[in-house]
Amino acid sequence: MSDGPGVDVERALGETEAIDPPESFVRQANVSDPSIHEAFASNWPECWERAADLLDWESAYDAVLDDSDEPFYEWFTGGKLNAAYNCVDRHVEAGGKNRAAIKWVGKRDETRTYTYQDLHREVNEFAAALRDLGVGEDDVVTLYMPMIPELPVAMLACARIGAPHSVVFAGFSADALATRLARADSEYLVTCDGYYRRGTAFNLKSKADNALLDVNHDVRETVVVDRLGDEMGHHLPSHQRDYGDLLDDHAGERVDPVPRDAEDMLFLMYTSGTTGEPKGVTHATGGYLAQAAWTSHAVLDLEPEDTHWCSADIGWITGHTYVVYGPLALGATTTMYEGTPDYPDRDRVWEIVDTNAVDVFYTAPTAIRAFMKWGEEYPERHDLSSLRLLGTVGEPINPRAWQWYYEHVGGGECPVVDTWWQTETGGMMISTLPGVDAMKPGSAGPPLPGIDAEVVDAAGDPVDAGGAGYLTVAKPWPGMLRTLYGDDDRFVEECWRRDDDGGYRYVAGDGATVDGDGYVTVLGRIDDVLNVSGRRLGTMEIESAIVGVEGVAEAAVVGADDGPDTAVFAYVSTENGYDASEELRERIVETVGETIAPFARPERVVFAPDLPKTRSGKIMRRLLTAVASGDDLGNTSALRNPEVVGEIQAAVRDE
Ligand code: WT7
Repeated sequence: MSDGPGVDVERALGETEAIDPPESFVRQANVSDPSIHEAFASNWPECWERAADLLDWESAYDAVLDDSDEPFYEWFTGGKLNAAYNCVDRHVEAGGKNRAAIKWVGKRDETRTYTYQDLHREVNEFAAALRDLGVGEDDVVTLYMPMIPELPVAMLACARIGAPHSVVFAGFSADALATRLARADSEYLVTCDGYYRRGTAFNLKSKADNALLDVNHDVRETVVVDRLGDEMGHHLPSHQRDYGDLLDDHAGERVDPVPRDAEDMLFLMYTSGTTGEPKGVTHATGGYLAQAAWTSHAVLDLEPEDTHWCSADIGWITGHTYVVYGPLALGATTTMYEGTPDYPDRDRVWEIVDTNAVDVFYTAPTAIRAFMKWGEEYPERHDLSSLRLLGTVGEPINPRAWQWYYEHVGGGECPVVDTWWQTETGGMMISTLPGVDAMKPGSAGPPLPGIDAEVVDAAGDPVDAGGAGYLTVAKPWPGMLRTLYGDDDRFVEECWRRDDDGGYRYVAGDGATVDGDGYVTVLGRIDDVLNVSGRRLGTMEIESAIVGVEGVAEAAVVGADDGPDTAVFAYVSTENGYDASEELRERIVETVGETIAPFARPERVVFAPDLPKTRSGKIMRRLLTAVASGDDLGNTSALRNPEVVGEIQAAVRDE
């Protein structure tokens, strides 16, 4: 933490008027007592019992927090519970068997509803199948699946038998899947033949098969869901299993939910970090589920009667926590949509809200900005009066997009919660409580009760009101990651720093400001991680893919301003004897698509004779970011080769 964060303080401190939550909302809110902030602060960490109380424990925990081995904090130690029991069985037992658990919307006119009873049956059958295939407690099962109900079923089946799942986003490439299978030593894969986008069938199975050819350890069993029927003409080789056949073989079977220690791993999820290697963020059963349920209750305001729609893909943490675990832990109805928001028309999302009478809608700023661009005529085509609360997550939301969402989707009557959190935090961390706190468009809000988020300077001291700094969390929280899979050292190194008093502080990698009311405005990433449309990409990961291309000597990847969005910019210098040709450019873009994912492909590839370096040989990314965004270059005196700057600027202009 040497340089100050490169943040746009002016933008953050622009005047924003506070908006009180609508009376009608407050009257019915799950949490509406303003003293909750103080009540949690003065009773920390015991305040978190309130979250744990939303769950059914097989045996009670002895301590809320065990901090004897920092930063390897443990929550609700000694307690035992099962996540699938909490998300399914207990709602059936309590008389909710006929309530919808999952409402799924596929391609045009195709829908499926799973009641809690249906979910119970299929989770049990698939859990029985997995167990018979040899999956034991603590075996990692990799799930490479699109947005179909079988994905949450598989997650819950794993949870039922105590096998951690590792979901790999279906948009990732075969290489990315192979890396994740290998790093987690995962011997079981559940995948799918394909999925529909814009009415067209996409092949997933061939990517899965290519990944299986690549991994050098033994993947013992592969299960394939048949989503496309005959469309792709897949033939399962005899060593792979058909999901439907497995259910038939285990029809009506029950598997007792395995009691798990609160600290046992519920799942791991690979995300981008500051090195080239994806990091396996691990989450523990008790703390994660408690925070997922608590934030779904207090922030999303969910009740069992509610239909919730979080539009995130389950392949990301947002989908894990707020499509699957949070809403289902509370016994609510969760909505899943396989398609895209503008097919067959740009009112698709509002049509789904209308048809299903969605109460709570949670999406990303990039989607809201697209809705805004398309125009209010699309939401106006539908009755959106079922909506009670709106949410946003994934990247900063500009006040204009916030206002548009509030007015044209919420009709000025639904609070908007701007929730800051990360894969590592497991659940929401900073947000207004919609029944308590006033909203300030563009600012996420105060830290949630029990969360000690602080914006600090390079020395680790809290900044004054109005100041900018690093977003950190001074005290642990239940949903926090427990380690990076198989790499405790990297966990300590990358996620924490020590204060002068020796205490550990979680470092989020974001820059932020804080105002006089304690509202935090998140400005964006300050480490070598990009946030492109709410998706996290490690610059090093993309760079190492690019330097793998024949003819490339060096590469530096930065994020550039592209309107309110971020675009991936790659600066590349070629090896001696190789031309900066159009062909090379295409190969670079293709390679990134193949080794990581199509959404990681650079928007622009700029060839430069050399990259700007400091005297110690470090590439000066700040400068490259400024060039890409057309900003002022600032001080370039630390450069060893200042002459390249002009050449790079010319290359960006001419290209
Ligand atoms: C990064 C985490 C769990 C959220 C989905 C992405 C950015 C997230 C906000 C927000 C401004 C936000 C941060 C964070 N971010 N929410 N409300 N306002 N920025 O999870 O892939 O782990 O990325 O997303 O930069 O560090 P992720």
